[in-house]
This record gives sequence, C-alpha cells and structure tokens, in this order.
Amino acid sequence: MRKSSNESDYIKNLFAQEDKVLGLIRENLIRDKKWGINISASEGKLLQLLLNLVSAERVVEVGTLYGYSTLWMARALPKDGVIYTFEKSKENSQEAQSLLKQSSESSKVQFFLGDAFEELNKIKEPVDVFFIDADKVSYLKYLEFAERLVKKGGLIIGDNTFLFGHMFGEGRSKVSQEAIEVMQKFNERLSDKQKYQSIIIPTFEGMTVAKKLY
Ligand code: DHB
Ligand code: MG
Repeated sequence: MRKSSNESDYIKNLFAQEDKVLGLIRENLIRDKKWGINISASEGKLLQLLLNLVSAERVVEVGTLYGYSTLWMARALPKDGVIYTFEKSKENSQEAQSLLKQSSESSKVQFFLGDAFEELNKIKEPVDVFFIDADKVSYLKYLEFAERLVKKGGLIIGDNTFLFGHMFGEGRSKVSQEAIEVMQKFNERLSDKQKYQSIIIPTFEGMTVAKKLY
C-alpha cells in the first residue's frame, strides 16, 4: 500500500479503493468541475456497509449527479436489488446513465429525471434505505417521503447535514436562512429517540443516519 498523507487518505487507500467505473465517474466530475459535490470514496464505502447491515434490496437516492454514490450503493445490493435514483438536471442524469451503463451494476439502477417531489410519487412499495443528497432547502420535503416509504428497521440517510458548518457556526459557504432552518428541523426530527436509533456520523460534511423504529 502506498504511503498515506492524512487520515482520510489512509482510510481510502486501505478500505475504499475505486474500481474502473468509479474512477471514470470521478474523472468526468473533475472534467466538468463538479468534483467535491459528490460523496467521497470512504463515504461510498460507508454507505455500502450501512446497506449491507440492513440487508438492503430496495434503495431510493435523491440526487444522482453522475452516479458516483449510486454505483457505490448498487454494488452493495443483491443481483435482483434495485436503486431508484432521482435527478433534476437532464445533463447530470444523462451523464450518469451513460457512465453506469459501463458497469456490471447497471441492471440494478432505475433513473428518474425531473422534480423529485413529483417523481417520488411513482414509488409505491416500501424501501430499505432512503439516501438524501440533493438541494439542501428541500431536505424536509424529502424526509416526508422517506418517513412514508422506509420500512420499519430501514434507514434514512442524509448527506451534508452540518450544512457546510452552518449547524454550529459561521459556515463555509453562503446558504439561505430557510436552508439553515430546514436542516435544523431535519436533524431534530431524526434525533427523536422514540422514532429513530440515530446519529450524525461526523464526516467532514456530516451524514445523518437514522434507523426507523416504527
Ligand atoms: C454541495 C452539495 C453536496 O451534496 C455536497 O456533498 C457538497 C457540496 C454543494 O452544493 O456545494
Ligand atoms: Mg452531498
């Protein structure tokens, strides 16, 4: 193993190596100056582990981007597993579809393009995991779908739940007051001990993980 330069590099080198298609997605994100708004490789591996722990077969993802997290999660699903991934931008969704076609997991992925509030109504059957990584101001609305769709014992996961530092201080980038209030409520709702076994995993961005107890 090559020498690592810091904690996250060490974790990634040891536990979260990218395969060919994940590397290709990364290259495309970098080319289009979108690298950094996706999850990291270590977070991808963490999502795989979480899916594994609940034996996930059906997953919803809100925010496809180029399919980097989609592919990490798809790899954790059984052959007949499915991930429904929602993306508002046509350009992103098309890019994700052409990239994921090159992976052995593409038959597990179903793409939805457009406004997730409308598209999510197409999912009628319960799911095991609902992963939210899209526009931050809408997290509470996505949470309503998640609370409806996730089975008892399943997981609701949200990325960026520190809201770029705004949950505890000044914040690294400008966000609306509405987004701050939404994220506070999102985390508060998932911290309800009667309803969830939950925590924010202290990744750089914050990742809320809640197991649904009802
Ligand atoms: C941004 C969005 C993300 O989902 C993320 O993980 C990091 C940054 C952004 O919009 O800047
Ligand atoms: Mg994110």
